[in-house]
Amino acid sequence: MPEYRRQLDDALGALLARRKSHDRLRRLSNAPPNSIDFSSNGYLSLSTNPVVQKSLLSRLEAEFATSENSNALRRQSILGSGGSRLLDGNSSFAESLEAKIAAFHNAEAALLFTSAFDANTGLLSCVPQPGDVIIYDELIHASVHDGMRMSRATKRIPFSHDSISETHQWRSSNDRGGQGGHQSKSQELCDVLRQLSRDKNVMRCKANVFICVEGLYSMDGDVPLLKEIVEIVDRYLPSGNGYIIVDEAHSAGVFGEKGRGLVCQNGLENRIWARVLGFGKAMGCAGGAILCSPVVREYLINYARSLIYTTSMTFTSLNSIDVVYDYLISGQSEPLRQHLETLICLTYRQLHALCIRSHPGRHILYIEKGPSKSPIIPIFTAHPRSLAEHCQGSGFMVRPIVAPTVPVGGERVRICLHSANTPEQIEGLCGAIEAWVRNQMAMEKTRESERHPKLIMEGEGVFIKQDKSRL
Ligand SMILES: Cc1ncc(COP(=O)(O)O)c(C=O)c1O
Repeated sequence: MPEYRRQLDDALGALLARRKSHDRLRRLSNAPPNSIDFSSNGYLSLSTNPVVQKSLLSRLEAEFATSENSNALRRQSILGSGGSRLLDGNSSFAESLEAKIAAFHNAEAALLFTSAFDANTGLLSCVPQPGDVIIYDELIHASVHDGMRMSRATKRIPFSHDSISETHQWRSSNDRGGQGGHQSKSQELCDVLRQLSRDKNVMRCKANVFICVEGLYSMDGDVPLLKEIVEIVDRYLPSGNGYIIVDEAHSAGVFGEKGRGLVCQNGLENRIWARVLGFGKAMGCAGGAILCSPVVREYLINYARSLIYTTSMTFTSLNSIDVVYDYLISGQSEPLRQHLETLICLTYRQLHALCIRSHPGRHILYIEKGPSKSPIIPIFTAHPRSLAEHCQGSGFMVRPIVAPTVPVGGERVRICLHSANTPEQIEGLCGAIEAWVRNQMAMEKTRESERHPKLIMEGEGVFIKQDKSRL
């Protein structure tokens, strides 16, 4: 290998070694073949749903059969799309799918992207103009950050997640005990907007403000207080130059009637400027879309580089999404969503009961007490890798989530529930967690008694140290 190449490898290797020394090295891994899935994002288990699978396969077979009978020039390309959407990668099928998606989510228009990541980067990199401001939840997804980095917006301002999250506000108000301890955090979105509303350009509508939140946060499993956010934006930006963007990558399919998403669940379709959909989560496929006005759609077709300069979705991908939407529209997914809700309640019940039985310290195990309809349940622990390994060893696939994916101190194991999970599997998982908790507590007790030999009472009111070496 030439010397210059070795030098680069050495430099990159040093960066990896540093990452490893901080216990932050990322690795690719495969779930053990027979483990029970409490980790993937397929909340409705649609990718393994036999009805959906059959429907996709029969469509592809029908297309193949039709192609067989037509001449070579008119054969449908089943493997690839042939190019960018703007060149040879467009089709009437893609356009009709967009119309179907828009209608389902009560939106004016939809534009497909090859992923929700591309949708976010495309949207944020090209819409905000010089002078504009983007304000965003501090926990917003990496793709929004990347889009913002590429954008020409003049300012990017984070606000605290606690100020918009249902669960965090619930927790704050309970932790406060009426003393107002977290008041300032809850105010942060208001403070940022109040400050901006005094800006000359914002006041005169010469600058726009984009507000970015998610519909369901994938690491915390909580949802934003959308109605309150809309009210706050209207209060501080009454001229209408506050544009809310909701990333529904995780909430589409899960929330709202038939899985229309959080915005529809709240009846806010006309108040949210744009929604980003992800088909790789509850929808069980891959890809993304932006729900917006027809003008914004046309603008994106002209300026969103992640749409223009990439090969568009394949015929097979379009069909996967189409069969999933047909399934949702038909209402067949409703029993799955109801079953998921039952599983969420059962899991919380089991985890809370476990905590009451074992009384683990917060550093061993902490579960949010707040009400939740989210299939993502974070289990906070200072030992996420140990807990995840224990569960995996017991046949349950869960993953540790550590910094930098979450803030230091917010390490956790993330449980993702799916419609295909059974109550017995949840009992099994909670049993494995409880066994780990007891083991952890026992180890801690042993360590504690070794570090601080017990004070034992000898006679009345006299304490002496128990010296283990003499026992
Ligand atoms: C909130 C959010 N937005 C966007 C994405 C990107 O989605 P995709 O996998 O379709 O690129 C993710 C995926 O992890 C996400 O969690």
